[in-house]
Formats: sequence, C-alpha cells, structure tokens
Amino acid sequence: MKTFIDLIAENVKEAFVSAGYDEKYAKVTLSNRPDLCEYQCNGAMAAAKAYKKTPIAIAGEVLEHIKDREMFSSIEAVMPGFININISNDYLARYINDINQTDKLGCNMAQNPKTIVIDYGGANVAKPLHVGHLRSAVIGESIKRMFRYLGHEVIGDVHLGDWGLQMGLIITELEERKPELVYFDENYNGEYPAEPPFTISELEEIYPCASAKSKEDEAFKERAHMATLKLQKGYAPYRAIWKHILNVSVEDLKKNYGNLNVYFDLWKGESDADEYIPQMIKMLKAKELLHESEGAMVVDVVEESDTKEVPPCIIQKSDGAALYATSDLATLVQREKDFAPDMVVYVVDKRQEMHFTQVFRVAKKAGIVKENTELVFNGFGTMNGKDGKPFKTREGGVMRLENLIQEINDAVFDKIMNNRSVSEDEARATADIVGLAALKYGDLSNQAAKDYVFDIERFSSFEGNTGPYILYTIVRIKSILNKYLEDNKIEDSTILAAEGDSEKELMLLLAKYNDVIENAIQDLAPHKICAYIYELSNAFNKFYHETKILACEDKKRKLSYINLISLTRKALEECIDLLGFSAPDRM
Ligand code: ARG
Repeated sequence: MKTFIDLIAENVKEAFVSAGYDEKYAKVTLSNRPDLCEYQCNGAMAAAKAYKKTPIAIAGEVLEHIKDREMFSSIEAVMPGFININISNDYLARYINDINQTDKLGCNMAQNPKTIVIDYGGANVAKPLHVGHLRSAVIGESIKRMFRYLGHEVIGDVHLGDWGLQMGLIITELEERKPELVYFDENYNGEYPAEPPFTISELEEIYPCASAKSKEDEAFKERAHMATLKLQKGYAPYRAIWKHILNVSVEDLKKNYGNLNVYFDLWKGESDADEYIPQMIKMLKAKELLHESEGAMVVDVVEESDTKEVPPCIIQKSDGAALYATSDLATLVQREKDFAPDMVVYVVDKRQEMHFTQVFRVAKKAGIVKENTELVFNGFGTMNGKDGKPFKTREGGVMRLENLIQEINDAVFDKIMNNRSVSEDEARATADIVGLAALKYGDLSNQAAKDYVFDIERFSSFEGNTGPYILYTIVRIKSILNKYLEDNKIEDSTILAAEGDSEKELMLLLAKYNDVIENAIQDLAPHKICAYIYELSNAFNKFYHETKILACEDKKRKLSYINLISLTRKALEECIDLLGFSAPDRM
C-alpha cells in the first residue's frame, strides 16, 4: 500500500505541476507545528528563488488547484509561504480501515526479496557471555526479524569464536589437572569417550584460571600456543577435547540466548571457515594481491578517497598462522558457497570497524563476494555504567549476562509486588517477561552506534520511555478488550471517522505505521520503531484518559473505539515482536 504521506504528497505534486511548477518542490513532511497543522509543504520557499516570485504567491497559486479536494479538512497558505495541511477525518478513517484489512498494517512486502546473512551474537566458546555480547545479540535479533517481516530470506549466524588461543589454554590447563585422561596418552588409539571430561561450570572456571596463568607463566603460555597449533592442524585427541568444549558450551549458550529470546539459524564458528583458508590464500596469490611485508603476507587496501590511514590487511603471520581477518574472509567464501547472499550484515562492536573495512575491501578486490553484494558493518557503541565507564559489577569485575538479567528481573519483580497483590509465582513469571522488555528496549531505543548508560532503575520504570511502559499500555488495551468481549461480539471491524482530537491523533499515528516500519528496516534502525511505539502509546493513553470507551452509550461508536484500540494493540504487538520481546496478559 502507498504510505499515507505519499498519498498526500501525490496530491500536492499534482497541484504544483498544474500551477506550472516543478514537482520537486512538492515535498510534504509531518508538521513541526502540530498546534497549527498535521502536515506541511515548504516547497514554495525554495521555488521562489527559481521562479523569481514571492513564496506566498506561489503557495496561493498551488492552492487554487488543490483546496477543494476532499482529502483535506483545511489547506492554507500562510506567511511567508508555508502550505499548512489538515486531513479530513473521513479520508483518514478510510485509510485506517484499509490498513486494518491487511495483515501487516499496510506494509509492502519486498518486491525482490534478498538473501541476507546476519552475523551477530559472536560469543566466544568456553568464555561466559558477558554484557559486551548483549548488544550484538539484542540488536542483531531485531534486525533479523525486521528483514524477515518484509519477506526477505534471512539467515542468522552466531559465528562463534571457537578456534583461538582459548582452546589451547583450556587443553593445557586440563592436562595439568587431569593428566590421566586418555587424550593425553600418546599411545592411546581407542575411541575417545562420549562423555565430556568436564561440566559447564568446570569449564567456565578452567578458562579464566588458564588465562591468568598464561599471563604469569611463559612456559605455560608457550604450551598453550603449541596446543592451539596442534588442534588447528588436526591432532585427533585435541580435536576430541575441542568437540567436547564446543558441545558443552553451545548447549549452555543456547539456553542463555533462549532466555534473551534470541534464536540463530546457524551455529557456525570460526573453525568452520578454516578449511577454506588454503584455497583462498592460493587464489589471493594467483591474483597477485598478496605480498610480503615485514615477514607477514598482506593485501593492500588503501583507496584514494581515504581520509584516514587504512593499514594493509594481514592474511598470514610469519609463522604461517591465520588471523582474525583471514577467518572472516574465509567465512565469506563459505557463505558465498552456501547462500550466495545479496547482503551480509555484521552486528559487532564499533571498535572493530577498521577490521571490517579491511575485510570488506579484500573481499571485493579478490572477488570473494560479487561486486554488488552489500557488506554492511552495523557497529554498536559501548554499554556504560552510571559512572560513564564500561559497565562492571559492583565489585568492578566483568558482569555476566545471566546476572545482569537476574538483576533487572528482580527490580521489575519488586515493582510488581509493590503495585498489587498477584501471587508470587505469577509476579515472578511476569517479571521475567517485563524484565526482558526493560533490558531490550533500554538498549534498542538508543541509536545503535552510540554509547549508552545502562540504568536498571530507569529501564525498569513503568513510566516514561521504557519497555515496561509499552507493555503496560498493551496490557491495558487487552484488559479493555476482554471486558468488552464479556458481553459483546465484534461483528464488524469498521472504524468510524474520528470525533475527538485525541482519537484523531491516534489514527494519524496508526496511518504512519507502514512508513515508519519500512523506513526503520531500510536504515537498520530499531530505535525508530521504539520512538514510534512510545509516541503511539502516549497517544493511546491520552485517548484512553479522555474517552469513555466501555461506557459509551452509542453502540456503533463504542464498537468503533474497540476496533481502533484493537488496531493499536496490533501495531504495538507487531512492533515489540520486531524488537524481540512480548507482552504478558497482566502486570
Ligand atoms: N567473537 C568476536 C568477539 O567476541 C565477535 C565476532 C564478530 N563477528 C565476526 N564475523 N567477526 O569479539
């Protein structure tokens, strides 16, 4: 469906053209003076220079061709040459009824659906998830849902860090602790046990311990390094341990991501790219892109238009080891082979931007991806504590994601218990749903690239621009609808033309839904959806406070209110689903 603003703009365009002016001046925007009008066109001001007339004269001429159209309740030219537009309530209601008949409130499905890989999550195997991984998971999940909403083929890949030094560290530490294990007996040639030689809690304790040791003990570090190389070269006993590490970790990660309502289609990792590296290096050599620099093999990626230095991309170190960039390039080889994507989006900490600039340039130069494949780096900022520094526990350590989720759920739980007397069990279950909304909305309502302050008190508040406030609004609508349905049936979905101002405001916002959503998706910008549902919730609550909905005497009008708030609920629920959370029935 055409967006509402486009329909208005079309009319204004026709009028500009009929009056003899170029249609490029007929741009319509939302009013920045809502007290005066709903939409506006400032094009007469720009046209004035080109046509050497006063803006007000031009606006007046344009109006002659448009002022009687039934779409407008009023349209007028005001000094110095603005065209102020108000929409007729009938026309607005017709549009609202039209979108009410569609299942995505008037959104247009993609005409040429793309295949899109989203690389997000990025957890490192055997290391606990910490808040740094939160943003990637939350933002990436939302972007995945947004693209899917319009019918694109989307593949979400967690891209685990499962191939680095941490593996060698764990193997080495395990050998110190349990030298009797068969993996460390060079003469052993039986089957390796199916049972892992550690639990997840042991594993999580082994890694930090080994990592600390390697910082003090050079010999230990060297052994860990050797173990990593041996593993990467395919040494069977180490591969067997590695498989155990992977299995135990992934099971735990699935649980943790599940608690965040984050689901991946693919559980690939850096290790899966490994087999593509030799072939890729051969190809880079054959294309004469690879050259030696200070012992390493690199690809130059400087471009003339660079304003800051872009160092060469290192593909192989002097000892032959592959690097992070090598792994990301080989992953693109693999993705090209498996999916031939039109677009690959990386949701990664913005401090890694240079790495991705280098990788993208090599991928294009070497033809690893097609010329028109869109490689998008969607970098996000840091989550800070109230002190403005990266978020830490009270003791100053790295906060585990699980604990963070627990803290916010507890804060919400206290609020629910204070508010009213639901059973403790119900309050707990509700707090988990609302807590997730608090956490995700708190993150997503900021522009991703910006740093933000994580503030449990503010995020979990039931008032203001927060997740719980949005949920509270949805719950309020659900409860009105339920009450209505106790003694009535909804036989007709018609929404009548608005009578009151707050009713119209709500309808104007609903008419914007498709425009906002399509725009947010285009810009990979969940924060635009957040801003919209905040506005929509405010508009609903204002309408609710000013209107007797259930007590309305006029049956037809009452049903129309019910249909209007149902549509509002639908819009809000679609949006929070795109953001990756849901609403409880009561709170
Ligand atoms: N594991 C990495 C980290 O924790 C993030 C991976 C991001 N994705 C990628 N394709 N490099 O920093």
